[in-house]
Amino acid sequence: MRMRKKKHGEERLAMLSHLIIEKPGEPIRCARDCFSSDGELHLEVGCGKGGFACGMAAKHPNINFFAFEKIADVIVAAAERAESERDMRKNDNLRFAIGDAKDICEWFAPSSVDTLYLNFSDPWPKKKHYKRRLTYRAFLSSFFEIIKDGGYLRFKTDNRDLFEFTLSELSEMGVVPEILTFDLHNSIYDEENVRTEYERNFSEKGFAINMLAVRVKK
Ligand SMILES: C[S@@+](CC[C@H](N)C(=O)[O-])C[C@H]1O[C@@H](n2cnc3c(N)ncnc32)[C@H](O)[C@@H]1O
Repeated sequence: MRMRKKKHGEERLAMLSHLIIEKPGEPIRCARDCFSSDGELHLEVGCGKGGFACGMAAKHPNINFFAFEKIADVIVAAAERAESERDMRKNDNLRFAIGDAKDICEWFAPSSVDTLYLNFSDPWPKKKHYKRRLTYRAFLSSFFEIIKDGGYLRFKTDNRDLFEFTLSELSEMGVVPEILTFDLHNSIYDEENVRTEYERNFSEKGFAINMLAVRVKK
């Protein structure tokens, strides 16, 4: 995600510190480590400007949403949105963090996360960059490690090549998706779907949205 450097980014982030989780000394073991409720812990990796996390937190008051993003200025935009939409949330169930997915196991303990979302992850279209894709098997392995037995990894993208790459990585790992659609918005799964910023944008341009969900078995 390209973004012009935010003016007063650090001060703005400091004003939103009640919504931001700093990297913990010990990995997070459960929702209680960063939320006031014991509800499920859902993690979005690469949350961008936070539309999905804000929408999900408002829609599911008993689930705790942790939105993770590597670019600090993008988190400023996401947290400012969350603050402006505070009245839409019944519970205090949304937090943000600045970090890189490659370090996810330093943030979350094994089997600590109920559902992990990857929404419109950067496609890295050049073949030589395939290891940077968040659905490259090394990333998938670390995501599966932090997801609980019976928990889910959910992935959406407009990018058919990235989707096919992901299916191939999963297949190499012996993992079969429980849910798979090449046209989410014209499927039964759209009823529960919360659209992200990229999803709205691509869908308005006529792109079909691919979605898969993997149930993690340990
Ligand atoms: C294409 S945007 C999609 C944003 C949002 N999920 C959406 O659907 O509107 C991808 C986002 O993932 C973030 N990202 C990319 N690589 C990441 C990584 N290794 N760790 C954390 N975030 C990452 C980018 O900074 C960007 O904000």
